[in-house]
Amino acid sequence: MEKLTGLKKIKTAVFISGTGSNLKNIIKFSKIKKSPISIDLIVSNTNQAKGLIFADQFKIKKKIFNFRNTEKKILLLLKKEKIKFICLAGFMKILSKEFIKKFDGKIINIHPSLLPKYKGLNTHNSAIKNKDKFAGCTVHYVTATLDSGKIILQKRIKITARDNSTSLATKVLKQEHKLYPAAIMKIFN
Ligand code: GRF
Repeated sequence: MEKLTGLKKIKTAVFISGTGSNLKNIIKFSKIKKSPISIDLIVSNTNQAKGLIFADQFKIKKKIFNFRNTEKKILLLLKKEKIKFICLAGFMKILSKEFIKKFDGKIINIHPSLLPKYKGLNTHNSAIKNKDKFAGCTVHYVTATLDSGKIILQKRIKITARDNSTSLATKVLKQEHKLYPAAIMKIFN
């Protein structure tokens, strides 16, 4: 990944579908001086995403696309806004091969499991059901194969006897908020 030159931050879009706690956390991180990125656009596939509130709160441009035959429009918007990097954060749609190719090596995602274990949904349920000793989260590059791109950073979290999928999700999410900024720093430094 290109090194940071001067003080210019890399224009970044965050794609969300839900609560947006990672989005909020990335926005806060982007505002600190050492952050290599600025958040200039928030894209959601639904107007129901609670995280859209952070667009208003932090005065960041937002756009809602239903992601059915709209990728060309999204690409045009990204170009117009000079977006060079994309963070997926709780984004529930699968991007097409063509879209990913246009941003090759420039899209990253956070996934609530120790990839390659538990790709896809219901990761915490699976970890509890399988009596795993550890759960975790992973930040990885996005490729055409779901949750399979090169791993940037991973954090392991102990599962205790008292954990259920809800408590585990809370514990993992807390670590996600540390891991995502750390992964972004790792990429650009
Ligand atoms: C996170 O656990 C993320 O790893 C997963 O969806 C959840 C999104 O949470 N992909 P939030 O919307 O960032 O609060």
